[in-house]
Parts: sequence; structure tokens; C-alpha cells
Amino acid sequence: MVNLGLTIGNLKFRNPVITASGTFGNGSEFDDFIDISRLGGVVLKGTTLELREGNPYPRMAETASGMLNSVGLQNKGIDYFEREIYPRVSAYDTNVIVNINGSYIEDYVALAERVNRLEKIPAIELNISCPNVKMGGMAFGTNPVTAREVIRAVRAAYSKVLIVKLSPNVTDITEFARISEEEGAESVSLINTLLGMAVDVKSMKPSLSTITGGLSGPAVKPVALRMVWQVANAVRIPVIGIGGIMTANDAIEFMLAGASAVQVGTASFIDPQVSVKIVEGIEKYLADKKFSDVKDITGRINR
Ligand code: FUM
Repeated sequence: MVNLGLTIGNLKFRNPVITASGTFGNGSEFDDFIDISRLGGVVLKGTTLELREGNPYPRMAETASGMLNSVGLQNKGIDYFEREIYPRVSAYDTNVIVNINGSYIEDYVALAERVNRLEKIPAIELNISCPNVKMGGMAFGTNPVTAREVIRAVRAAYSKVLIVKLSPNVTDITEFARISEEEGAESVSLINTLLGMAVDVKSMKPSLSTITGGLSGPAVKPVALRMVWQVANAVRIPVIGIGGIMTANDAIEFMLAGASAVQVGTASFIDPQVSVKIVEGIEKYLADKKFSDVKDITGRINR
């Protein structure tokens, strides 16, 4: 028997595989494909105080070993979330995490206060790394002063598990991980997408309406892995690794580099069952290697 369970803050996860925000809808889209209770958790699509229409189309483009997106945080706002989505996701037998976003610190705080009151949401992912909005998002997460301010303000407003989602579009991501730890976050998740662009040579126009967008998928994995390793060596709080995880082996690489858990994103667009396959693959790897506990491989490359 292999123990796949872990704890972040006071929150127990039955295994280290979580689905990434923006790639798993609100979970119900996957009901026909997987049993959500097989997952450690799900992070829901980024939520804001007010409804957002998102960016104009086109806002997705395929690239070599990856994809660009510029969705622009399309969502129906927290009122709709509370009324329509929360009752459904409350029934899930897994950790349901809300990814929160805002243009101003006050937006983040108001949203955190609202989500704090939702009994069946045990954690938020504070998104200070969305590269696709004119205000807020990555602008907060690439400046150490504003990153600290928003994390501090949200921490004061939110009493449950706080995970800060970090941007890779910085010179030294460990600085932002340290700030998150100092300001009381229980965990950091990384990486959000890398700022990129693509051009359609036929039309001679950018492939995305916003010209730039966020790159995800296998193309970013080596960069993500390097950053996870750096952050895991810089902070004591658990690190959640994200970036191009397509298989159990990819997830295991992140864990060996120091991640306590992982998020699976772009891969779910290709195979809606991939997250559960990754849970099974990690369990088999541990059994084959004769490890009894998943925690035994976290940061193993350093030992
Ligand atoms: O454009 C988007 O909705 C992406 C969000 C994110 O990368 O955090």
C-alpha cells in the first residue's frame, strides 16, 4: 500500500494531483469522463467580483509543443458563482479551490472575503500572474512591492488555506515565493503561463487579438521545472508544480525537484482523463520503487 496523501496548511489532499485553473472549467464539464473524487483537488476557472466577457477572439493559438491563450479571465462573477456554481461544486468529494483575480487590491480583498464564507471551499489560489488582462493580474505578481501588498491584504481577509499562483515572467521567481511565505501564504503554485506570441504569416497578423498571450504545454516544462526547483530550495512552505505536465513521469519530475503536489493543465484539453491517469501512474511508480509514501520523493534529487 502506498500513501499518496499530503497536507497543505491544515488541508488534507488524498493525492498530489490537482487540476489547474482555466483548464477544467468548473469540474462538471468532466463529469462524463472521470470520477472527480479520484483527484487531490480541482482549481476552478479564475473568478472576479464582476462578470467579465474576456478578450476578443481569436484568443487561442496552437504553437510547437504548446498553446497560447488570451482568454482574459472570462467568467460570470462571484454572485453567479455563489448562486449557480457553488451548490454544484459543493457536492464534490475533493478539495475545491477558487482562483481569485482582480484589477485592484480592493477587488481581491472583497472576493477573498466572499469566498471565505463559503463553507465547502477550503482554499483559494490568489492569482497574481494572469498575463492577459490590462489591469491587475501579472502586474501585481511581477512587482515585489505590489505582490506583497496584495498578498498581505488578502491574508488579512481570508482565514483558510492561501495558495499564491506565481508568474514566471520575472527575473527571480524565488523573490516572489519568499514574499508569499513571509506574508503568511500556506503554499505557492507555479508556474502560470509564460508571456509569448505567434504571428499568422498568411494574414500577416498576430495569431491572438491581444497580440501576446500565455504559453503553456510541454514547451514550458523545463523552465517550470527549473523554477519549481529554485523555489522549493528557497521556501519552507509546500510548492505546487505546474507547467506542461502531460504524464505521470512529468509529475514525478516536478516532485523529485521539490514539488509537494502538481497541477495538470493543458493536458486535460487533449485527454480529459489524464489527471486520473497521472494519479495511477504516480502510485505505480512509488510501488515499483518500493516507496510507501509520496512525501518520500519530494525534493529527492537533493538527497
Ligand atoms: O486569460 C486568462 O483567463 C488566463 C488566466 C491566467 O493565466 O491566470
